[in-house]
Amino acid sequence: MSETTPGRMPTTEAPLQAGNVLESLRMRYVESCPPDYEPGASVDIFYSSDEFWTKFERWLREAPDFYPASDKAFVESVVRVDGARAVNIGTYYPWAEIEWGARAAEWVGLDNNPHVVARARDVLARFPGHRVTLIEADVTEPLELAGGFDFVLDLSTFDHLDPRRFDVILDNYKRLSDRLVMAYDATRAPIVDYDFERCGFNARLNPATIAAMLEEVGYTIECHRPYAHEEYRSYILARL
Ligand SMILES: C[S@@+](CC[C@H](N)C(=O)[O-])C[C@H]1O[C@@H](n2cnc3c(N)ncnc32)[C@H](O)[C@@H]1O
Repeated sequence: MSETTPGRMPTTEAPLQAGNVLESLRMRYVESCPPDYEPGASVDIFYSSDEFWTKFERWLREAPDFYPASDKAFVESVVRVDGARAVNIGTYYPWAEIEWGARAAEWVGLDNNPHVVARARDVLARFPGHRVTLIEADVTEPLELAGGFDFVLDLSTFDHLDPRRFDVILDNYKRLSDRLVMAYDATRAPIVDYDFERCGFNARLNPATIAAMLEEVGYTIECHRPYAHEEYRSYILARL
């Protein structure tokens, strides 16, 4: 995709300031979205594929540089998992549930995709001692899930969600916990890079944009590590 294709923003803009970030991201999405495109539908198709699931399993087994190792190091450096109550938004292959489900006091894995939830359930059946509950729910809608979690974990799920729903999603996160641990795909382009092809939809936010967006809705940024893994995967810890 070239820099002038819809979804690629010009590279000369100043960073957004807290106060108009969510609205700017929404407007940019509306301007660049191809006609009749539904990000949710495309993302669901992508994550329903058997082919990608099988590839992911192979990467977990065979690729030492695969991002979960880097995610694990970040999460463990900023929150205490042992004895915690945690909610993981967007499980896909449930490597996080496998990793932490026995150490947490309660681990909720949430995903909107019934194919993903069914496959994750099959995998987790091999770990009967894990304290994991899988829930099928759409995080772009107000969630009916009681709060009081020690942290919300969003490992690159936000990247695939509809920017017109970022406000609802962040309201959910704030209701669930006062701490948010995120991995996200960063762009060095100013503001944001909406890609309508990768994984069905991929919103790569500039690190300054994600920080300003979280501050706009009331978070304080406690730790931020842009481009920590392979020049794109980035990490942030935010607290209300
Ligand atoms: C990029 S994967 C992240 C998986 C995992 N956190 C990781 O880092 O390996 C995104 C996951 O979010 C799920 N997802 C997409 N849209 C969602 C939505 N609206 N509500 C809940 N989950 C969603 C997808 O089905 C997929 O399993």
